Parts: sequence; structure tokens; C-alpha cells
Amino acid sequence: MTHWRERLPVPRDQFVPPVVWVDDLITGGYVSVSREDDEPAWRKLVDADEPIITQVDDGKTPPGGVGQQISSSCSAPSVVADMLDALDARPGHDVLEIGTGTGWNAALLSRRVGGSGRVVTVEVDAALATAARAALHEAGYEPLVVAADGTEGYPSGAPYDRVIATASVRAIPRAWIEQTRPGGAIVVPWGSDYCNGTLMRLDVRYDGSAVGRCGSHVEFMRVRSARRYYMEPAADEQAAADTTTTTLTVRDMRDMTVYGRGAMIIGLRVPRCYLTVEDPDDDHRRYELHDVGSGSWAAVDLVRGEHPWTVRQLGPRRLWDEVTAAHAWWTSEGRPGPEHLTLTIDTEGGHWLSLDNPGGTRWLLTP
Ligand SMILES: C[S@@+](CC[C@H](N)C(=O)[O-])C[C@H]1O[C@@H](n2cnc3c(N)ncnc32)[C@H](O)[C@@H]1O
Repeated sequence: MTHWRERLPVPRDQFVPPVVWVDDLITGGYVSVSREDDEPAWRKLVDADEPIITQVDDGKTPPGGVGQQISSSCSAPSVVADMLDALDARPGHDVLEIGTGTGWNAALLSRRVGGSGRVVTVEVDAALATAARAALHEAGYEPLVVAADGTEGYPSGAPYDRVIATASVRAIPRAWIEQTRPGGAIVVPWGSDYCNGTLMRLDVRYDGSAVGRCGSHVEFMRVRSARRYYMEPAADEQAAADTTTTTLTVRDMRDMTVYGRGAMIIGLRVPRCYLTVEDPDDDHRRYELHDVGSGSWAAVDLVRGEHPWTVRQLGPRRLWDEVTAAHAWWTSEGRPGPEHLTLTIDTEGGHWLSLDNPGGTRWLLTP
């Protein structure tokens, strides 16, 4: 495989804004790095094969402050290259992008489709759309940059040969399929709250349905309307949680939490359940499950030398019980990895999941 530098013929530094953000170990938030104040630090971020945080808190935290939530980023170059390869946009194609961000990907798309093609890119944040339009113009590209909610697509530019989303979804919006030409394709980061997610390439069929298989593991921010922030229950609530133990093994826990093992498929059986992992110290790993809507929470603490492990559960949903039931089902299905999963979206928008195991198991994703 060619190195990403040769696959991305538009320089990233033309699009990365002069102020970016990095993790701050001290506060646990994000602090700004300014090109003007520290060009070497800014340049190091631009040159690395890593995502760069380009906006926090929807632009409400000014440079010098401490950001709490990432609200826009410039994706890792190797991921951008893989997505463009999966999309396979060709000269003359009409392409819709959802999630303009810095505009870098829109420039790369413009290069791919050439003068005979057309790129429309939609960004929900008006300030980001304005900055991207200016950067694109400066770099010599003129795609149509629209400030709007991209989950609606952009109907007046339809149909498109290709649709690409650079923010993740839990369900593929019907509008994207309707606005893609039959025989065209959609590339989108797709997953569940539990496992976010896979690079999905969907082929749109002549009957208006779409079908695709899981690709590589990717982590993308969600589309803005689907963002959720979970809250840790207070210490007294945690102390009052129902407490049991589990005899599951380290291997079981890895199967349940690693994308390439069972996490993708198990996550699709347990809707609205966030998984978080933290290591309080070298001998302790904690998995937590959160359902923001119902206020349910569970935690399992893996402590070296202690087994069975302690499980605590709070709220109307018993999230740990749901996840272990999904794990038991996944084991009974022959422990399929994500490469065995196909997503088919019917003409009504129903998301059907099927495994290519001997039983040909098929189920409808809970909306
Ligand atoms: C990972 S960034 C995109 C990176 C971008 N493609 C680039 O080349 O820099 C995701 C972007 O999606 C935008 N976004 C989130 N929800 C959206 C929505 N519903 N419609 C359009 N854009 C959205 C975010 O504001 C953010 O800028």
C-alpha cells in the first residue's frame, strides 16, 4: 500500500487553522496551541498521522481557555486516504460530503473529481463553514460549501455518484440513500454507542436499498444532533448500586470490548449503551456502561489478583446483564468478527444485520 503522503496530493497545512487544541494532562481538558506562538509545536501536529482537534465546545471556548468537548477535528491522514480509496470518486463524479470541518477533505475530493465533477460539502457549524470556504478559495478550490444539518443531505444538488460522511452515525439517514444515484456508493463511519465503529461502504441498489460490509475500525465524532454526554453517578449512588460478581475471564472481557473480536457485533445487540474503559492504576481496569436516557449505569472492576470481579449496576436497565447476554449469544453464533457482518438497509429504512455464518443469522437493528 502506498504511503498516505503520496495518496493525499493537497497539503494539510493549507487547511489546519492557526489555533488547534491538544489533550491537557493536568486539567483533563483541551488547551490551545497557536501557530503564531509556537510554530514548531503546531507543525509537529500537522505533520503527524493523527487527528488534530480544530474546535472545542462548538467554538465557545476561546484560545487560552480549557476546552471540555471536541466539536471539530481534521482527521488522521491515513484514515482520510483510506476513506477516499473506499469512496472511489472518479473524474466527472458528483460528490456530497457531510462534515466539511477544515475543508481539507473537500479539497482532496475536488482534486479527484476534477473540473468535470462537482463537490458539495455540508457543515453544521456556520463559523467552520465560513472558514473552510475561505481556505478552499485560497487554495484554489471552489466546491459548494453549505452551512446546514448534513443529515438531510443536500437535496437541491442531488443525485450524487458518491456520498461521504466524516462524522459518525448510528443509523444511515434515508436522505443520503435517496440522494445517491443507483449504482453509487456511500462511505460513512457507522457503529453503536458501545462500539464506534467501522468504516462502512454501502452500495446503493436500483431498488433503493443499500448494502455494505464492515471495513476497518475508525473512531469519529458523532453528527451533532446525535451527541450524548454521559455522567458518572455520584459516589453515594455508586455505593448504593446492586453489587454482584462475575466469573467471566480476561479473554471474555477482551472479546466484549475489542473491535476486531466481538465488540462491534455485541454492541449492535445492546442499543443506547456507552462503553468506557479506564485504568485507575497498573493493577486495575474499570469498564463502565452508561445509558444516558434511562440513567442506567454499570461498572465492572478488574483488579489483579482478585477474581471473581465485582459488578455494580444502577437504574432501570441492567446494562451488564444485557451485555453479558449479548456476549453469550455471540459465543453461540461461533464468535464472528466484524468482517462477517453485512448491513442491508431496506427501502423503508430498516437496518438489517446478517452474519455469514452457517446459520445465516439475520436481525433488525433496534432503532
Ligand atoms: C471529523 S470533522 C470533519 C473533518 C473534515 N472532513 C476535514 O477535512 O477537516 C467532523 C465535522 O462534522 C461536522 N458535523 C457534525 N454534525 C454534522 C451535521 N449534522 N451536518 C454537517 N456537519 C456536521 C462537525 O461540525 C465537524 O466539523
